[in-house]
Amino acid sequence: MPSLGGSGKRLPLLASPGKSDAPMPEQKATNIVWHAGAVTREERERLNGHRGAVVWLTGLSGSGKSTIAVALEKALWTRGVRTYILDGDNIRHGLNKNLGFSPADRTENIRRIGEVAKLFTDAGLVAVTAFISPYRADRDQVRALMRPGDFIEVLVDCPLDICEQRDVKGLYQKARAGQIPEFTGISAPYEAPLTPELTLRTAEQSPEESAAQVLAYLVARVIVSSR
Ligand code: ADX
Repeated sequence: MPSLGGSGKRLPLLASPGKSDAPMPEQKATNIVWHAGAVTREERERLNGHRGAVVWLTGLSGSGKSTIAVALEKALWTRGVRTYILDGDNIRHGLNKNLGFSPADRTENIRRIGEVAKLFTDAGLVAVTAFISPYRADRDQVRALMRPGDFIEVLVDCPLDICEQRDVKGLYQKARAGQIPEFTGISAPYEAPLTPELTLRTAEQSPEESAAQVLAYLVARVIVSSR
């Protein structure tokens, strides 16, 4: 177990590779007391007419996470489901603008998003996240934050060579040329989930088909209604 590195520390020291022993950041503040609200999650869910949950899309850059998130949100929205997308590239412009792509920064990126997704779930929304989230331990930490059934891990499965052919943002070419260090799939690892709730094979189906696959899962789990 890596140590937290004494007092006055910023981020936990991270084991590598895989970081399966990565500790949660410590609680820094003392003298804080939880203040309960008067409206429960269940009451918010009743008002919304569906349950809260997080659809956690994980996969390589260019695998289709953001596109599927948009298609899924549209499909849910037209059914009257309250949703919100948390997207890696977007969140890194604001909340997580102080984070890069080192293993420690990616861990902190996912930790923060896990907490935000938990809040959205408590608000009774269906949060859809689109982050590479390459480390299994980081995703498992998010799962552990949530109630059983709330965290729906979805592997957006696309072979690296196809992501690279697509190269929507031109980043793989730069990574191959050595211009982007620690690029997932090229010079940084991606640890696919071993038992995801769902796997979407995006080289074989359209984003709308993938969104429909997720929607069918949400209906089957009675998170949203069948119509
Ligand atoms: S994560 O690994 O911490 O989950 P996140 O999903 O937030 O990553 O951001 C990934 C996006 O940042 C990619 O889709 C890509 O556009 C961009 N990016 C820039 N540098 C890198 C890098 N070194 N590795 C992966 N993605 C990068």
